[in-house]
Amino acid sequence: MTPNILRTAHAEFRVTDLERAKTFYVDALGFSILHQDSERLYLGNIEERDPYSLVLRKSAQPGLGHLAFKVERESDLDGLAWIAGEDGLTHKWLEQDSKYKMGRTLAIQDPHGIPLHFYYEAERRDWSLQKYSEHRGARIQRIDHFNCQVHDVRRAYEWYTKRLGFHCSEYTAANDVPKVPGEYSPANPSFSWRCVETDDLWATWLHRKPNVHDIAMMNGIGPRLHHVGFWAYDRLSILDACDILASMGMVDRIERGPGRHGLSNAFFLYLRDFDNNRIEIYTGDYLITDWDVPPVRWSINDKRRATFWGHLPPKSWFDEASLVEDIVTGDLMPTSEPKFFGRPSFVV
Ligand SMILES: [Fe+2]
Repeated sequence: MTPNILRTAHAEFRVTDLERAKTFYVDALGFSILHQDSERLYLGNIEERDPYSLVLRKSAQPGLGHLAFKVERESDLDGLAWIAGEDGLTHKWLEQDSKYKMGRTLAIQDPHGIPLHFYYEAERRDWSLQKYSEHRGARIQRIDHFNCQVHDVRRAYEWYTKRLGFHCSEYTAANDVPKVPGEYSPANPSFSWRCVETDDLWATWLHRKPNVHDIAMMNGIGPRLHHVGFWAYDRLSILDACDILASMGMVDRIERGPGRHGLSNAFFLYLRDFDNNRIEIYTGDYLITDWDVPPVRWSINDKRRATFWGHLPPKSWFDEASLVEDIVTGDLMPTSEPKFFGRPSFVV
């Protein structure tokens, strides 16, 4: 039986200076500190009820510690361990986190080496949804998604959809013209399903909760984390974040945007923390409740896909990403070259 993964839950970033990271995440963007010790800051946002959604862990080198998903039942963890064993993936059970009454957690290095954690049981905390007097910074509501770079997006698509039960909402084809005859139309969903099975996949947006994604996989040097996305209440919150960062002398932390994506329709802003870990502040994608809705197809060379208004992303957004951690050794994983070389035609 396919395990029931509920949603994106939390991420752990490695940072070289906790105090400096705090000025970015807490003082500027308004993340709340839920717990801290000499090695870690545990941060959360307005609408969340989990113990935390972002952990900053002091480390000599920056990068990604892990990405975590919550599952529906404890038995889903056993199902995931079985899949990892069948697929020959490195995996291990982690000790319970007594501090947060987190139940047992399964760590899996996915087929490309992305470090994943899965958990079922976690202490609930009081949210601050209607504590408006406490809302600050970008007024981030909740964690939304992960975005990774891997060397073979087709392989990632197959594993996440067929083994873990993810659904593809949108994707980018490396080939401009579909390989199957026909024309996209909402009245012809079977055409879209045949396209996603036959196109050269440049990137794929995969979800379990009913919005555009919980995890996206993009063609690139990998395994690397491109960014973690956080949901903001509205577009004005994103514009406020720009003003706050600028007024605090952090203009170099703003990498791309604000703007609107064609793919996902979301209003976005990409930021780099002081260790160049990347986050996206994101709002305005859409609801997907019907799993028979076919994925939306985008050609890689369609300018509106990346930014609906046609603005070009900076080179750093395409080239730079965070290395990820080996779940056994704690070292940063080696990377491989991507399956598809080159860039979208609109990138200079
Ligand atoms: Fe994103």
